[in-house]
Amino acid sequence: MLIINKLKKSFSDTEKPLLNNLNLSLHSDESLSIQGASGCGKSTLLSLIAGFDHPDSGDIIIDNLSVTESKNNAHRIDQFRKNKMGIVFQSFNLFDCFNAWDNIAFTARLKGNYDKKYQQALMDQLGILSIAKKPLSQLSGGEQQRCAIARALVHRPSLVLADEPTGNLDEATSDSVSDLLYETCKQANTALVVVTHSNDVAKRADRAMRLHKGVLENAMPEDAFASSTF
Ligand SMILES: Nc1ncnc2c1ncn2[C@@H]1O[C@H](COP(=O)(O)OP(=O)(O)OP(=O)(O)O)[C@@H](O)[C@H]1O
Ligand SMILES: [Mg+2]
Repeated sequence: MLIINKLKKSFSDTEKPLLNNLNLSLHSDESLSIQGASGCGKSTLLSLIAGFDHPDSGDIIIDNLSVTESKNNAHRIDQFRKNKMGIVFQSFNLFDCFNAWDNIAFTARLKGNYDKKYQQALMDQLGILSIAKKPLSQLSGGEQQRCAIARALVHRPSLVLADEPTGNLDEATSDSVSDLLYETCKQANTALVVVTHSNDVAKRADRAMRLHKGVLENAMPEDAFASSTF
């Protein structure tokens, strides 16, 4: 489902590349957690996979589409993202002008598979059905985070990229929300990449890796910060 070959990305000509010949292969029903020191490039990696930014070299292939080769075809990558990807941004990126319900419905309406009952069930499981009609400005950080997660799942994507999806949640809510994220993806044969600083969230994944010195290494979640000397 997702293959990354020799990915390089730098933001500076003078420093070592942030991502340096990074490789990854992920199956269509597999979940992967990525941990690593703050600033090591986790969000950058997700942004490259989603086609929001472009690498210096290397290739990213999702479902036989080369995201990197499509960089000059914005429409193609937009369509692909709309139909196949669900993205939980680290900073949520919800729309201030919509209430919770319409924020979540957005991806499904865009894709054309809006399903009121499915959205209700997702929101119920995430504990945010009661705030469906509230404007975004009246939601707590944790409620907004759960809206962002629902929005990434509601259109039944085949790849979900989640950047710190439980960063604003208390421990109990984080447990139930990460369970829902992993279970929903598993049931739907959806590949899932979760970037997280939480060992508890990381260890629920089929495979746990850490980003260190520009490459992904296999990791036990407990070891993720053992040598954060990036
Ligand atoms: N558009 C950009 N231009 C220049 N530098 C950038 C850009 N985006 C990210 N960086 C730099 O790249 C590095 C990695 O950033 P990134 O957001 O990927 O880290 P991260 O691993 O997600 O960190 P955190 O755990 O704090 O979210 C940082 O030093 C950041 O300042
Ligand atoms: Mg980040």
